[in-house]
Amino acid sequence: MPDDVRSRFAPVAANYARSTFHASTERLQEVLDLAKPRPGDLALDVATGTGNTAFALAPYVRRVIGLDVTREMLDQARRITAENAIKNVDWVIGDAMALPFQDETFDLYTVRAAPHHFADVDAFLREAFRVLKRDRDAAFIDCAPPAAAREVLHEVEVRRDPSHVRSLTVDEWAERLERAGFDVELATIRELDWDYDEWMKNMAVAPHLADELAGVIEAAQGDALTQLHPVRREGRLRHAYWHCLVRAHKRG
Ligand SMILES: C[S@@+](CC[C@H](N)C(=O)[O-])C[C@H]1O[C@@H](n2cnc3c(N)ncnc32)[C@H](O)[C@@H]1O
Repeated sequence: MPDDVRSRFAPVAANYARSTFHASTERLQEVLDLAKPRPGDLALDVATGTGNTAFALAPYVRRVIGLDVTREMLDQARRITAENAIKNVDWVIGDAMALPFQDETFDLYTVRAAPHHFADVDAFLREAFRVLKRDRDAAFIDCAPPAAAREVLHEVEVRRDPSHVRSLTVDEWAERLERAGFDVELATIRELDWDYDEWMKNMAVAPHLADELAGVIEAAQGDALTQLHPVRREGRLRHAYWHCLVRAHKRG
């Protein structure tokens, strides 16, 4: 079990239930458009955190299981489940790279904003493929900067949150998914105008470190600078940030 992940997320769990990126209606609609849930589906949302993605799927499927390695994140999900009297969600502690489920259990597999923490991407994708039923789909959303920006953001990501391992580009995603046996149906990236301060606050980064890491982004050169296009608006740093939106099919 990745202890580093748990020690990073446990103290900040409540932030993820209200984070603009993670909890916004627009971003969750994006998941629904990509995942295309069906009413009879048993869905699995991996690295569910406080359950944002699982809660978005719940009204459109039979049942959702949200799995995460950090108990404190699932405690938030359980609190929200109780407050809203949601009946068709369950929460399971587990590791994306060794899922506690039998082969071909799920009609839909989703994972969002988490694979960049996984030490072994091939193992996580093998597990996604294994637990998904044949002729069904999986949706993957994760940070996916273009190559030059990734080199700058990598330093920022690791120092902001040492449980960050690596972001993949969208081409790397497609290659890894095909290797795991999936047919890639759609693989795009979209760019967001990123609120740097909120990103730092989600992980409770100390102000002096947040200032230093802002300097790393603002000092980007060449293609990385063009891609990140950092700008100060009313003193707040904004820059580009990218996610891949990938839909993959397990052949029947
Ligand atoms: C940014 S949060 C997740 C956000 C959530 N998916 C959403 O859409 O709002 C990242 C989550 O990944 C979880 N995580 C990291 N590595 C994991 C692993 N190997 N297995 C399961 N969960 C993991 C962390 O505990 C954390 O809750």
